Amino acid sequence: MKHTITITGAGKGIGRAIALEFARAAKHHADFDPVLLLCSRTRSELKTLALECQAEGAKTDIITADLSKIDDVRQLTDHIINRYDGIDCLVNNAGIGRFKPLEELTEEDFDATMSINLKGTFFLTQALFASMQKRRSGHIFFITSVAAEKAFETSSIYSMSKFGQRGLVEALRLHARKCNVRITDVMPGAVVTPMWGEISDEMQAVMMRPEDIAIPVVQAYFQPARTTVEEIVLRPTGGDL
Ligand SMILES: NC(=O)c1ccc[n+]([C@@H]2O[C@H](COP(=O)([O-])OP(=O)(O)OC[C@H]3O[C@@H](n4cnc5c(N)ncnc54)[C@H](OP(=O)(O)O)[C@@H]3O)[C@@H](O)[C@H]2O)c1
Repeated sequence: MKHTITITGAGKGIGRAIALEFARAAKHHADFDPVLLLCSRTRSELKTLALECQAEGAKTDIITADLSKIDDVRQLTDHIINRYDGIDCLVNNAGIGRFKPLEELTEEDFDATMSINLKGTFFLTQALFASMQKRRSGHIFFITSVAAEKAFETSSIYSMSKFGQRGLVEALRLHARKCNVRITDVMPGAVVTPMWGEISDEMQAVMMRPEDIAIPVVQAYFQPARTTVEEIVLRPTGGDL
């Protein structure tokens, strides 16, 4: 069966690993014929990823969009809704983090973070959820963070945005339960990705890898339709950094 899966922030890090894991699943699930809609701002990264996914047997569609811009969000949703009969899965993964002491955070840090982590995520979800609601099926993942329920000293703006995403998850769930749509909140701790910039070998040794997040996400998708994995919390074994 065809499964249309949109992954935002697919070009790097956790989103890239989720795309590859869905592509690999095509080999293990006889009835799973994925079409992966890969979205981010950097076309070259999406092109490389698309070839890797195709090599695993998945179909792909590359869509460049800046999800902090409402016009791009609308173009993306129009593309998905007009081109595909319906959307089976949305992985809300695109996001940024500006980690600085409280006094150094600027208005630009605030606006940049909120425009992608909250505004873009909200309007994309709103549009695609409406289509799932009509079909009475679908699955939306949010890659929030442990910072969605726990504060860290250098992550005040990031935490505000992630606590906000969690608010959306909880509100959306109330609607989703009435129309057979599954919502999964994925809360990872520290994962080695480009979001962190340069990371020392010592730090890397105690952090998770993107595939550690991707594997349980795809497993949650393959639960029977009657079952929703509502939350996935993943931490480095030694705890938060
Ligand atoms: N890494 C961690 O430790 C960690 C822990 C918990 C939660 N998370 C969350 O996991 C998600 C992915 O993080 P990551 O660590 O994988 O980050 P990453 O390596 O920096 O990748 C982020 C992805 O999002 C895309 N993106 C960023 N801004 C965008 C925009 N305005 N429009 C469209 N796409 C955009 C990036 O591509 P372009 O720049 O090409 O657009 C990239 O593909 C984020 O929501 C993050 O908050 C990460």
